[in-house]
Amino acid sequence: MMLQDRIALVTGAGSGIGQAIAHRFAAAGATVVAADLDRPAAEATASFAPERIVPYPVDVRDEASVRALLEHTVARFGRLDILVNNAGIGTTRDLHETELDEWENVFAVNVRGVFLCCKYALPSMLARRSGVIINIGSVAGLIGIPKRAAYCASKGAVVTLTKQLAIAYVKDGIRCNCICPGTVDSPWVERLVALEADPVAARRALEARQPMGRLVRPEEVAAAALYLASDEAAAVTGSILVVDGGWLAQ
Ligand SMILES: NC(=O)c1ccc[n+]([C@@H]2O[C@H](COP(=O)([O-])OP(=O)(O)OC[C@H]3O[C@@H](n4cnc5c(N)ncnc54)[C@H](O)[C@@H]3O)[C@@H](O)[C@H]2O)c1
Repeated sequence: MMLQDRIALVTGAGSGIGQAIAHRFAAAGATVVAADLDRPAAEATASFAPERIVPYPVDVRDEASVRALLEHTVARFGRLDILVNNAGIGTTRDLHETELDEWENVFAVNVRGVFLCCKYALPSMLARRSGVIINIGSVAGLIGIPKRAAYCASKGAVVTLTKQLAIAYVKDGIRCNCICPGTVDSPWVERLVALEADPVAARRALEARQPMGRLVRPEEVAAAALYLASDEAAAVTGSILVVDGGWLAQ
């Protein structure tokens, strides 16, 4: 019960990595607000442990929506201990193929969303001089990957913002870290391979890209999040934890 009695908020908790984090945090004793653009998906996540997980609709791109989510969380539970900025979207284009609205939408979810959630979470954390922020970045924020122009740029921003937040609030008792997963076996990746002419071969190519020869499981990213959220990581802030089956070690 590494998160006994903690109040956690996970964005994008209706699917994949966010759902696995919500479930793992609840199993570790936390009360979890599972927030997602897709309300039924958030409700499905909450059905795993209805006494510990509360679904809430949010669009992380939208300031009023994020403000309402944080106001609801603090009003209902009195505080927020852990914020996981997981909601994210990707695109599959190089820069010359990317339209401005697509670029801006990726940044609205992946970067503005992190900004807004932190902006409205921080006052409660600062008042209590305690808090943990975990941003879900990506290997794509650390290296260039073909066909991922907007995505790589947005995740690079998340990586650097993580370090800035860690330094800015280290004296306030707030820790901020980033998890950079490799390719994770989530509904997102299922959708990506389904777009390919040969989805089976496309999936095999993604598996082969990682030295372990397989995709990362959402539960393995959730285990990293559990560590960073817990007191076991009390001395860890500003770190970038890569969970990639060895991809970046090559
Ligand atoms: N799957 C991977 O291989 C992989 C690798 C590295 C990083 N990531 C990152 O992990 C995070 C989760 O990815 P996933 O694979 O679980 O994706 P997913 O598509 O399975 O789940 C993403 C969830 O975010 C929600 N969401 C999307 N836009 C939103 C918005 N505007 N407001 C609120 N919620 C919104 C979706 O409804 C969905 O439930 C993302 O930030 C992604 O960039 C994923």
